[in-house]
Amino acid sequence: MSKKSLVEKAKRVLIGNFQKKGFTIPSKNLYPFQWKWDSGFIAIGLAHFDIEKAKKEIDSLLNAQWENGFIPHIVFHTKNDSYFPGADFHKSSLSPKSPKHIKTSGITQPPVLGFVLEKLYNMAYNKIEILKFIKSQINKVYKNHRYFYSKRDINNEGLIYIYHNWESGTDNSPVWDDIWKTMNPPRYKFERKDTTHVDSSQRPTNREYDHYIDIIELAKRSNYDDNKIAKHSPFLVQDPLFNSILIRSNESLIRLYKILGGNEEKIKYLKSKNEKSLTNINKKLYNSSIGAYSHFNLRNGKKIPLICSSSFSPLFCGAPDLDLARKLKNTLMKKFGKHDYYLCSSFDPEGKKHDQKKYWRGPVWINLNWILYHGLKRYRYEEIAKRIKNDSLELVDKFGFYEYFNPSKKTSKESNIGYGGENFSWTAALTIDFLSEK
Ligand code: SER
Repeated sequence: MSKKSLVEKAKRVLIGNFQKKGFTIPSKNLYPFQWKWDSGFIAIGLAHFDIEKAKKEIDSLLNAQWENGFIPHIVFHTKNDSYFPGADFHKSSLSPKSPKHIKTSGITQPPVLGFVLEKLYNMAYNKIEILKFIKSQINKVYKNHRYFYSKRDINNEGLIYIYHNWESGTDNSPVWDDIWKTMNPPRYKFERKDTTHVDSSQRPTNREYDHYIDIIELAKRSNYDDNKIAKHSPFLVQDPLFNSILIRSNESLIRLYKILGGNEEKIKYLKSKNEKSLTNINKKLYNSSIGAYSHFNLRNGKKIPLICSSSFSPLFCGAPDLDLARKLKNTLMKKFGKHDYYLCSSFDPEGKKHDQKKYWRGPVWINLNWILYHGLKRYRYEEIAKRIKNDSLELVDKFGFYEYFNPSKKTSKESNIGYGGENFSWTAALTIDFLSEK
């Protein structure tokens, strides 16, 4: 397909998923509400052809921010029973900090909004207009970062913990498997909806869902109080992807506050936190035994020595020095970069638990590719960056705007399908962004 037709098709996906209430669903039926990190990537895509919709996307997400700065991973703007677990399960009203006017979840997702606001600024023709918008939103994003550093950084290391695998964005990664072994949740009675929309071989198992539900039950019993959750959650992890995105967003907020002027205190705060985050992401999350960054399990005080696409995300925030960046690049190419594989598989293709079909256990995701692309460019690994971009576009062109894709060139050619949700918004949005680059 020509570049122009692919962009037109992608725009139609985004327009089709945009809702009257001013937000975009990730995918019809499968994800019928507003998701936090999806919205950030979607706003980037929308900004290429309809800046007003991009602004609405961010505004409606931030309209659901909690009093303590927390931004939920799902905002339930409308009623819809095609998704589990919905608003009645999450029960955000249990927290005195949650908004009264709208129902949300009580878990979060990677903090993309800082770098998204800066991207909107860089893209906009009318800088005065976009600065007006940024001025109306930026303090909410700043408050969100303060929330993370004051509530989610229990050792004062500049490294934020997540208390649920859904907070990582990489829901069923093999990285969590050993944590599940420390739990023994009951077999909950619930009705999965995702597997009525998507083949169950592409989704997490029911037993995995028992664990996901069990942690949310614990959070609900704690009325979503961070101190109680940090004390009791069996899942408490410092994630390289989550922290890299926070650092990258800190950077953007600092630059935007400088442009806006008169925000010295905030800039000072962000700079000092960012410095600590950068030092400790390298000290604590770089894992020389695997030649990449890895997750840290705060519950048992150990590194989780597995490599997934998140392991390379610190390139996106400029954490590694040149020597470390070269090591990361070598690990990436040695393990993930074989020529019969598309870049970048979500989990180590040489790992025992790699699964080409199952959600975050192996398939290629376009948002992670976009993050790695920009990370590699930051270190001038132009050739590999180009390959990630071309692989992403080839997958979308061949199979459509799917949620995720088989990483093996041979298998995907034989099966000729993409996986998960169809007409998936961030796949479309980031395709537009890739194709709009000069
Ligand atoms: N991605 C999750 C799901 O599959 C929720 O955030 O439902």
